[in-house]
Amino acid sequence: MTLSIFKCPGSLLLGRKIALRLALATFVLSGTVHAAPDQVTNIFKPLSTPAESVYQAALLTLAVCAVIFLIVGGLLAYTTIRFRRRASDAGSEPPQIYGSNQIELAWTVLPVLIVFVLILVTSRTIADVQNQPVPPDSLKVTVVGHQWWWEIRYPELGIVTANEIHVPVSDAATRKLTFLRLESADVAHSFWVPQLAGKTDLIPNRVNTMWIEPKQAGTYLGNCAEYCGTQHARMLLRVIVHEPDDFARWAATQKHNGAEDPQVKAGRDVFFSTSCVNCHTISGTSAHGRFGPDLTHLMSRNTLASGAAPNTPEKLRAWVRDPQTIKEGSLMPNMQLTESELDQLVAYLLTLK
Ligand code: CUA
Repeated sequence: MTLSIFKCPGSLLLGRKIALRLALATFVLSGTVHAAPDQVTNIFKPLSTPAESVYQAALLTLAVCAVIFLIVGGLLAYTTIRFRRRASDAGSEPPQIYGSNQIELAWTVLPVLIVFVLILVTSRTIADVQNQPVPPDSLKVTVVGHQWWWEIRYPELGIVTANEIHVPVSDAATRKLTFLRLESADVAHSFWVPQLAGKTDLIPNRVNTMWIEPKQAGTYLGNCAEYCGTQHARMLLRVIVHEPDDFARWAATQKHNGAEDPQVKAGRDVFFSTSCVNCHTISGTSAHGRFGPDLTHLMSRNTLASGAAPNTPEKLRAWVRDPQTIKEGSLMPNMQLTESELDQLVAYLLTLK
């Protein structure tokens, strides 16, 4: 009910489409269709419905600000040159004007109108994004922010992973939306993958929601966007968007229990005899810890420690040996393992594919 009032004044002014075209013409930042997500986070190349809405509102705001800048800057430059001090002035002051109802009215009413229009456009964008109904076939993912990593749960699929969210691509024929339920285990974090959607905070004792609709397969980069402590900068996110078949295959693999390779029994014994087992889960075993990331399919992930290092055997060994060398302040302790225990443990972890 309240939302319908936002729609009228916006269309009264210019019509949203005309306004957006004006914005696009003023700000030719990028108009091309992108084949794959960027390897750098980028708000100017949206590839998902909510990100497109945010982008369009941002372009209009930028265009309005650019016009104001040109008018104010142009007038300032003109008056500075036109009315500069000349030799013939002989130090005399120009006539002083005090008070002008017309001018004061103009510079009060115009900015109020501009701000009002921007409020309407912004409210409409927010409403468009927030009022998206949840289609029954949408994918539901729970994201829990931790210092400093992301817990990713798929309650309907029975999958738990960390730091990398796998979702199916959405195409015009069969739209596939992913709804995120955002929670925090400790402090406030913020979920932000610029090419997919705007930012949403993850707040302790509160549930926030957002949705994404990626239109291209590929890996989308994001990060925590709310300062959350020492390693806020290394709380990186990846959203990996698959074609539907690929997604089904990924999900099927993730449902398996942790591998039990008899050749790495020594390493498994190290894992289950140290406090690794208190913080991590490996499904199908007695390890049910929730404090650290689920390790059942550790080696299916591209990065370690929420993007702090690539997930290679060397980095994995360095990480387990002393997490502080890769991510200072990390809550994972140095387990003081001997070199041979380290080798055994890493050999075991490498089988968790
Ligand atoms: Cu989590 Cu910043």
